[in-house]
Amino acid sequence: MIIKPLVRSNMCLNAHPVGCVKDVERQINYILSKKKSFDNAADKPKTVLVLGCSTGYGLASRITAAFGFEATTIGVSFEREGKETKSATPGWYNNLAFDRAAKEKGLKSITLNVDAFSDEARTQVIQLLQEMNLKADLVIYSLASPVRTDPETGILYRSVLKPIGESFVGNTIDIITSKFSSIEVEPATPEEVQNTVKVMGGEDWERWINQMQAADVLAVGSKTVAYSYIGPELSHSIYRDGTIGEAKKHLEKTATKLNDLMQKTVKGEAYVSINKGLVTRSSTVIPVMPFYISILYKIMKENGTHEGCIEQCDRLFNDRLYSGKPVPVDENGLIRVDELEMAPEIQKEVAEMMEKITEENLKEKSDFNSFLHDFYIIHGFDVEGVDYGAKVARLDAI
Ligand SMILES: NC(=O)c1ccc[n+]([C@@H]2O[C@H](COP(=O)([O-])OP(=O)(O)OC[C@H]3O[C@@H](n4cnc5c(N)ncnc54)[C@H](O)[C@@H]3O)[C@@H](O)[C@H]2O)c1
Repeated sequence: MIIKPLVRSNMCLNAHPVGCVKDVERQINYILSKKKSFDNAADKPKTVLVLGCSTGYGLASRITAAFGFEATTIGVSFEREGKETKSATPGWYNNLAFDRAAKEKGLKSITLNVDAFSDEARTQVIQLLQEMNLKADLVIYSLASPVRTDPETGILYRSVLKPIGESFVGNTIDIITSKFSSIEVEPATPEEVQNTVKVMGGEDWERWINQMQAADVLAVGSKTVAYSYIGPELSHSIYRDGTIGEAKKHLEKTATKLNDLMQKTVKGEAYVSINKGLVTRSSTVIPVMPFYISILYKIMKENGTHEGCIEQCDRLFNDRLYSGKPVPVDENGLIRVDELEMAPEIQKEVAEMMEKITEENLKEKSDFNSFLHDFYIIHGFDVEGVDYGAKVARLDAI
């Protein structure tokens, strides 16, 4: 089979196994090239659980923990597996590529394809740790999902991406045709806000840490980190001040609660890390983001400060979590690795360019081609060194 990307409504419905493998290898090679030796061996994570391990920030975190710190990793994600002639989701191929590369390096890795919101997933992870006689010293929470079933009640909640109070009016873009269209998003109802907090807030993260603590599988001095985004003023009405922002604020409050619990029980720490806006399977569907990211890429590249998920995670681990010093946080207790994106001079230039961008000058005023390139890469397409004219024998393997 020759595999070509199938894109509908700004979503890519298939993935290229060879491209996914190559891009996982690229990220591994980046981390190996940056690997440091540790004087203080006690300060490196040895057993790391990554919830949402298969793509984006979770995959980059797992690669950093394993290949940068030689940690045993347990990864949890929920991906559609491949059939002989039917494509898997990219995360499924990424997980296979990660496990294969880890094995080749003699690193222990276990990957579970289960619903991380379920108590069954928690039980499985706890049992695995107990069987291996290990305790987790880092738990990364990197789930991004539109739905969550509450394990207490069995009720399925759906998140929405909507403003609160007033409608959002803005432009969106068709990734394939580069055509702009204006959209209006009605404000969320109070119930929609609550449901979004149920899905993307801190309730599930808290359940993970509570159950792991009760089962005594958190190591003394362990850390947990959940990921969040703040982003520029111009996206606040649809993001930070909207439904997802409410969920993220709940996640941030949960960090304080979990930090207290972990301090008392295992002398541990809980954080939210604010990361940079990047092209991932979750971010491309947010209105404004394709424009913003395309302009941001251009300006940050010109400025020499552009980063992807793997560079972000390398800095998060080495300069924030395991620098040998107390973890640096801002005045709200948040880890910030978005500081290069949020630098005032960068944001000023982006805001000015956002005013000027039109369908005609899109490719000249922004780095839309890089946005597209990254969009394809996260599905295994447009990856350097892959022969896309070559036939792929089957889609249920790498
Ligand atoms: N992409 C950005 O620009 C950006 C910026 C800052 C922070 N973040 C945050 O980083 C986190 C991860 O986002 P991402 O952009 O890397 O997303 P992503 O879509 O690339 O990854 C989401 C992960 O969650 C997993 N997942 C989803 N539902 C699951 C379920 N029920 N059970 C198990 N696994 C499940 C997927 O399998 C995947 O591994 C989110 O909290 C997001 O808000 C993203």
